[in-house]
Amino acid sequence: MRRPMVAGNWKMHGTRASVAELIDGLCKQVFPAGVDVAVFPSMLHVSQVVEGLAEGVVVVGAQDCATESQQGALTGEVASSQLHDARCELVLVGHSERRILLGESDEVVVRKFAAAQSSGLVPVLCVGETLAQRQAGETLAVVASQVSAVIGALGVEVFDRAVIAYEPVWAIGTGLTASPEQAQEVHAAIRERLAKCDAVLARKVRILYGGSVKAVTATELFGMPDIDGGLVGGASLNADEFGAICRAAGS
Ligand code: PGA
Repeated sequence: MRRPMVAGNWKMHGTRASVAELIDGLCKQVFPAGVDVAVFPSMLHVSQVVEGLAEGVVVVGAQDCATESQQGALTGEVASSQLHDARCELVLVGHSERRILLGESDEVVVRKFAAAQSSGLVPVLCVGETLAQRQAGETLAVVASQVSAVIGALGVEVFDRAVIAYEPVWAIGTGLTASPEQAQEVHAAIRERLAKCDAVLARKVRILYGGSVKAVTATELFGMPDIDGGLVGGASLNADEFGAICRAAGS
């Protein structure tokens, strides 16, 4: 059985004061023992969160890393080895906001994925289609090609130490959640893509759903056979709501 994971992507939100409040709120939550819980604060707040959650069960990840794993002359970037040193355990790669708004290509995503793993971090590979792609019937092809970019460059076995997050772009931050059936169809197709290379591995890889997940929608989504938890944006900025989503993954 796959162990569910719920991850909170805080995006470009937070001040030292609001982050301190969020840490306090998280420390008060009762998280289910059978669920991996992670939060992804901004780079600026990673250390504050690592220190604030030191005694808890919540692990900390970063929202991005450089394509290079080692320190060097690359102004403004953060190397995966530095994230590891800061006690991050995970890193998001290929979030659609970076792919679309910052022009991150599959090639760059692959290099970040490899850098993360070489520093001992677990990459969370984000994939998903735009509304136009869905309307054109291209959803499964788009998502398969985003996963294939990693398989083609690094081999399927790298997914042994990675997580995938399916996040339809049209559902992110819009309040429009994919229906459990829509999400399940894509999750199953992603697993099928992995299974073409390695059926045993495909059964083990966790595939999270992201896109306007809230406590009220979480139970049904997480009840689908190929949905192994969630990547939560807006709702993760509220500790009680995030706690409720984590408990939904444990039920
Ligand atoms: P959302 O964001 O939950 O606010 O839609 C999800 C994400 O972008 O990871």
